[in-house]
Amino acid sequence: MKKTLFAALLSMSIAGLSASAMAAEPIDPIQPVKVDNPALVELGKMLFFEPRLSRSGFISCNSCHNLATGGVDNLKTSIGDRWAQGPINSPTVLNSYGQIAQFWDGRAKTLEEQAAGPIANPLEMASTHEMAVKVIGSIPGYAKYFKAAFGDAKVDMTRITDAMAAFEKTLVTPNSRFDQWLKGDKNAITADELKGYNLFKASGCTMCHNGAQVGGSSFQKMGMVRPYKTTNTAEGVKAVTGRDQDRMTFKVPILRNVELTYPYFHDGEAATLEQAVEIMGDVQLGKRYTKEETAQIVAFLKTLTGDQPKVEYPVLPPSVAATPAFNPWEPAKK
Ligand code: HEC
Ligand code: HEC
Repeated sequence: MKKTLFAALLSMSIAGLSASAMAAEPIDPIQPVKVDNPALVELGKMLFFEPRLSRSGFISCNSCHNLATGGVDNLKTSIGDRWAQGPINSPTVLNSYGQIAQFWDGRAKTLEEQAAGPIANPLEMASTHEMAVKVIGSIPGYAKYFKAAFGDAKVDMTRITDAMAAFEKTLVTPNSRFDQWLKGDKNAITADELKGYNLFKASGCTMCHNGAQVGGSSFQKMGMVRPYKTTNTAEGVKAVTGRDQDRMTFKVPILRNVELTYPYFHDGEAATLEQAVEIMGDVQLGKRYTKEETAQIVAFLKTLTGDQPKVEYPVLPPSVAATPAFNPWEPAKK
């Protein structure tokens, strides 16, 4: 079964390759966004940086998706409320719009749906949706931003997550050297980087890492040809479908800015890109690369780093007497 699926994928990729020899490459340049509601984006940016959406008053989306570090926390697995060890590595928020779904197991269809998760996740921000709405609604300084974005000042969870998603949609990283090359500037990447790209294509990496995001377009088994060993207990898509055959199937991660988003894999166990490439070659494709080949693929992957979004740090309106107080050290409720 595993073999036939692999063969099917391989022949798909060969068909794809011969078609692409004439026409397009398997990777497309990522396009800058057009913003049609700047007030909504501005509000979403404020909420993305808003620590008062957490129980402690200290953790914001940016704590784990730090826009100064490629939209991740560079930790194996994230740190949440009460210093809780999260179960899984944080994927980047950069370019996350346009993927087949959100989360490693795809359990949220959209960014709007996704954003509701972490606020109430006990291992992340550990608040509740009621509390989040109460807190934001209590801060008079937010009223004008909600009014500008939605026409009136009402605060509810849908508006909060719609605004966050609108901001996240602007977190695109165009103009990488690889995109310049795709658009015809043959000098934008070096000969070694080009060798790496050709190896990436010829090996079959583009079966799964393709499109504008260089990933994010399908769910695939981690360990296509050889089982991947990990102590991490994440079940992948099985957690969503309940089907045993979906164990260890994950959303293929985005490789844009992958140079910045270490450590790698859902368990964060690959510390370097070299390790990640060697493991991918081995467990997904049954390939053992030479040191030189690995270095070439890594060199190619680093050409995927694009212009990072220029985010002006928002100034958040202050709490008032009516704003619920925060006590990060409040004893955990049993
Ligand atoms: C405590 C750390 C933490 C906080 C805080 C946090 N996240 Fe995450 N985020 C994660 C982790 C870990 C995952 C992966 C979880 C999974 O797939 O099961 C994730 C997944 C995501 C994804 C999916 C990306 C993808 O490619 O699948 C998006 C988008 C995202 N978070 C946005 C947000 C937003 C918006 C907020 C604030 C409301 C937020 N996150 C708060 C750690 C965090
Ligand atoms: C059969 C599909 C498939 C193929 C082929 C494949 N990958 Fe992957 N790749 C995945 C999946 C799924 C993951 C996530 C696995 C996990 O975290 O457990 C991943 C993860 C990665 C990561 C880590 C990204 C991150 O942010 O954690 C890198 C780097 C990567 N792949 C590079 C490659 C390279 C290079 C090749 C070719 C040698 C390749 N992949 C071939 C499906 C594939």
